[in-house]
Amino acid sequence: MIKENFSLKQFNTFGIDASAQYFSTFNSVEQLEELLAFKKDISNASLTMPLILGGGSNILLTKNVEGLVLKNNLKGIEKIAEEGDAVFIKAGAGENWHQLVMYCINNNLAGMENLSLIPGNVGASPMQNIGAYGVELKDVFYELEAFHLNEKQTVIFGLNDCKFGYRESVFKRQFKNQFVITSVTYRLSKTPHFNTSYGAIEQELQAMGVEQLSIQGISQAVINIRSSKLPDPKVIGNAGSFFKNPEIDQQQFEVIKQTFPNVVGYALDNGNVKLAAGWLIEQCGWKGYRKGDAGCHAKQALVLVNYGNATGEEIFKLSKEIIESVQQKFGVLLEREVNII
Ligand code: FAD
Ligand code: EPU
Repeated sequence: MIKENFSLKQFNTFGIDASAQYFSTFNSVEQLEELLAFKKDISNASLTMPLILGGGSNILLTKNVEGLVLKNNLKGIEKIAEEGDAVFIKAGAGENWHQLVMYCINNNLAGMENLSLIPGNVGASPMQNIGAYGVELKDVFYELEAFHLNEKQTVIFGLNDCKFGYRESVFKRQFKNQFVITSVTYRLSKTPHFNTSYGAIEQELQAMGVEQLSIQGISQAVINIRSSKLPDPKVIGNAGSFFKNPEIDQQQFEVIKQTFPNVVGYALDNGNVKLAAGWLIEQCGWKGYRKGDAGCHAKQALVLVNYGNATGEEIFKLSKEIIESVQQKFGVLLEREVNII
């Protein structure tokens, strides 16, 4: 059923009260096709492409959406093959990401444990190649099925087709708004390859008293760390990191370091340095800032928050001010990670 002037407040983790001109969910590719046929009947030029919604945890709604919003509800998790140490798990795009991670861990399948507790759905996981604690989606990705909105056919994308990068994929760039990802197949491993080198994982495992490493233990450590600094969207509206960590060359890093010896940066394999955007933003005095209901999280400056009734425009304006001040102080341009609608 298609609803008109439908509030999206419950459908985005920022909790922005914007509405969709038309809204519906779909449980199958057939239903999606029917809804697309409906779209053709609407004679409004602005209705070029529908907005596909997963968990709404990586979007900022800055206005009401003119046209059709389709929330994907494609379900199902199944083991489709085994090959030596590898186990292939296929999941419907509407499955919750963390529940899929838990399914794999409960079945002793390794690879996703560092990606525990990331909000959102399976279908969005390849969109920005989700990542955390030293692991990215591409490390467990096998292939995905995506429905082409114009050509009305399903296309299979393998690892190389997706052109994954840091918070990047082909679906955010040249194929933006062209495909609906309908399922993703992941390649898990029966033998774990523990990755505890990132951030505070080792420290947290020690604090937990873990002596024997396990995927369950790593998952719990990641959950503990995340819960200690990231705001729970059910309590304070947010979409995780609002900006990407910027990459600069070694020369620029040295220049910044002369004035700011404590600058936080990580050496990359290509010789460049990735700066901690949270540190840059904190140094500009934004951490804990609040104007009206729009703010910068007090425990993690990279996360912008909605304390209740902020509008998308207010959050966007704050992000603009932050970009300008970081540019002015450090000469570094921050790029938004959240999808601005
Ligand atoms: P949505 O917000 O619904 O959609 C995101 C984008 O993808 C939109 O442009 C949408 O149109 C498009 N899209 C969604 N589903 C489909 C589909 N099936 N087909 C085509 N297009 C689609 N991200 C990380 O990478 N690492 C983190 O550690 C992390 N931590 C977070 C912590 C918090 C507290 C929050 C709130 C967010 C965090 N995020 C993190 C961001 C977010 O969880 C991920 O980007 C997640 O993958 C978004 O999933 P979603 O289903 O909510 O996507
Ligand atoms: N820092 C500060 N002040 C802050 C925040 C961070 O100084 O307010 C500095 C600290 O030195 C800290 C460092 O920045 O050690 C890194 O902070 P953190 O470990 O919290 O990670 P991050 O770089 O801010 C990235 C991802 C997160 C991901 C974590 C863990 C991006 C844009 N963000 O954050 O992803 O969960 O690493 O891997 O890459 C997301 O994408 O939404 C997201 C939450």
